[in-house]
Amino acid sequence: MTFPGAIAEQLLPDELDRVSLSFLVDGLEIRRGGVGANIALGLGRLGLAPVLVGAAGSDHAGYDALLRDGGVDTSGVLTVPDLLTARFLCTTDRDQNQIASFYPGAMTRAATIDLADVLARTGPARIVLVGPDDPEAMRVRTEECRAAGIPFAADPSQQLARLTGAEALDLVRGAEVLFTNAYERELLLQKTGLAADEVLRQVGSWVTTLGADGVRIERRGEPDVRTSPPPERLRADPTGVGDAFRAGYLAGTVWRLPTLVAARVGCLLATLALEAVGTQEYVLDPADFLRRLADAYGRDTADLVGPHLASVRVPEALPAGR
Ligand SMILES: Nc1ncnc2c1ncn2[C@@H]1O[C@H](COP(=O)(O)OP(=O)(O)OP(=O)(O)O)[C@@H](O)[C@H]1O
Ligand SMILES: [Mg+2]
Repeated sequence: MTFPGAIAEQLLPDELDRVSLSFLVDGLEIRRGGVGANIALGLGRLGLAPVLVGAAGSDHAGYDALLRDGGVDTSGVLTVPDLLTARFLCTTDRDQNQIASFYPGAMTRAATIDLADVLARTGPARIVLVGPDDPEAMRVRTEECRAAGIPFAADPSQQLARLTGAEALDLVRGAEVLFTNAYERELLLQKTGLAADEVLRQVGSWVTTLGADGVRIERRGEPDVRTSPPPERLRADPTGVGDAFRAGYLAGTVWRLPTLVAARVGCLLATLALEAVGTQEYVLDPADFLRRLADAYGRDTADLVGPHLASVRVPEALPAGR
């Protein structure tokens, strides 16, 4: 919601023991999101067959149908009938100050999901990304991957803030890929008290996204891989760029492309997300995608990606309200 005034002007310093505030807002937008759904939809748009694992509430049916339309297998989603799906509610004022609440709802039950059960239904997974979720669910999912020898990507993102160093390290140890942005990278080092090369020793590779500066990928004993984002057509909304990057990078990894090329697929998908308002509203037209890859990074990059997009259909216009 957007409040045209200043939130701070409504807070009376002498009355803070009995706050009763209501903002008359002039804008309300409802958008679908959730990091798991965002990443899964990105993978689906690139023609992969992602399985979404998480807990949703009794209000999930409409979203479930949209995800399945987008190529996402939702058979790993636990429906919790007595709770609602997690939701973030935010009021932003004219100075970009915010008052927000996060309702975790059904997410608090995510630890009860059994990954082995899910994979028995869907078939084996090439890689499992453990993203921000209920902290106990993140711990359990990581442990399930380690115990079953399933390659996993550690992506604690915003949940790093509430984890101890030992908890964070437990999510990272043995990961094929560790994802952080630049801030989360520093937070992880600070919380664990480890040096970067000590963390690097625990993972296959460490992908650090650097906002407009692109991405850096480290691997122990090898030179860093770095790339910049392609030129953007507009900057509409940066929400969800990190999720889109992950979808593109993971797709490139599953396609066994060189790390640099996977990073560029990630950067271009992130740019598509940056050019659209919302986290899932971007459209992926394969011909345009390959043209932009070639323009930004050269013909060779586009030629490596092209065969993998051969079966991706040009999307129709999205239904209104999506
Ligand atoms: N201003 C920008 N211009 C171009 N590309 C960008 C910009 N910001 C982000 N990106 C792209 O998105 C990727 C992820 O961005 P960033 O490092 O900001 O992640 P994040 O902070 O985790 O984002 P999120 O808010 O989605 O969690 C970058 O590696 C880059 O490819
Ligand atoms: Mg992020």
